[in-house]
Amino acid sequence: EAVAGETPRFPIPANVHAETVVSVRHYTDRLFSFRITRPQSLRFRSGEFVMIGLPNAEKPVYRAYSVASPNWDDELEFFSIKVPDGPLTSHLQKIAPGDTVLVRPKPTGTLVLDALTPARRLFMISTGTGIAPFASVLRDPDTYEKFERVVLTHTCRDSAELLYGQELVAALKDDPLIGEMTEGRVTLYNSTTREQTERMGRITALIGSGRFYADLGIEKLDPETDRIMICGSMHMLKDVKELAESLGFEEGSLANPASYVVERAFVG
Ligand code: A2P
Repeated sequence: EAVAGETPRFPIPANVHAETVVSVRHYTDRLFSFRITRPQSLRFRSGEFVMIGLPNAEKPVYRAYSVASPNWDDELEFFSIKVPDGPLTSHLQKIAPGDTVLVRPKPTGTLVLDALTPARRLFMISTGTGIAPFASVLRDPDTYEKFERVVLTHTCRDSAELLYGQELVAALKDDPLIGEMTEGRVTLYNSTTREQTERMGRITALIGSGRFYADLGIEKLDPETDRIMICGSMHMLKDVKELAESLGFEEGSLANPASYVVERAFVG
């Protein structure tokens, strides 16, 4: 079995893009992000995912990864968990600039603006690596054409895991393409569940108790004025979905746009 960093010993399968790692950043022993070259022909909607693999096996293992970069970017960015014995991530976490990553064509996914009907505010609710698709949507000019106000929530176990999202949002204002249009319109709402911080608790509890609205000084979630995108673990999706539906939100899709969309984050 080859290890990331070695020259691939196996031929690149047909109909798969072989791309080059540009940069890697480790946030914690559980989370890292990386950027790769973008296949010329790869087009995607912000918020969609692609299948990624490594050229280290006769039959590469592929996993779904939300593209974290916006659709106008020359590179593809991903935000990943490291699972010690994960079939893909145990190897992927060792990649370095210059290595090869395989990308299957045909991006897909439900966390896209077109699956939501127009409204005033967009709420993107994420936990862990579930922030990745929203990193893309947040940097898409269409988001600001469609919504006046954007609120991104990111809840993680500890504060070190929140850094990726904090830097992302802080960098918006300096973005040459969308910096100006995002000014004063984007809010990041963080909480931790295991490390003691000034704002602790699952997002479901913070919304349920009303603390979320009080902290931000905003009106309650309302399907008349708001749209919701949800991305996290299986359990998180179930609970946030139930919360959204209890408030009158209806699940949308590209075929039937409505007031909320969900997708499971890549878990390993
Ligand atoms: P908790 O620490 O209480 O499990 P993970 O890294 O395990 O995917 O978790 C990311 C974040 O999602 C954690 O803060 C975790 O809280 C939170 N979380 C886990 N399950 C749910 C759920 N059912 N609803 C809301 N948040 C959840």
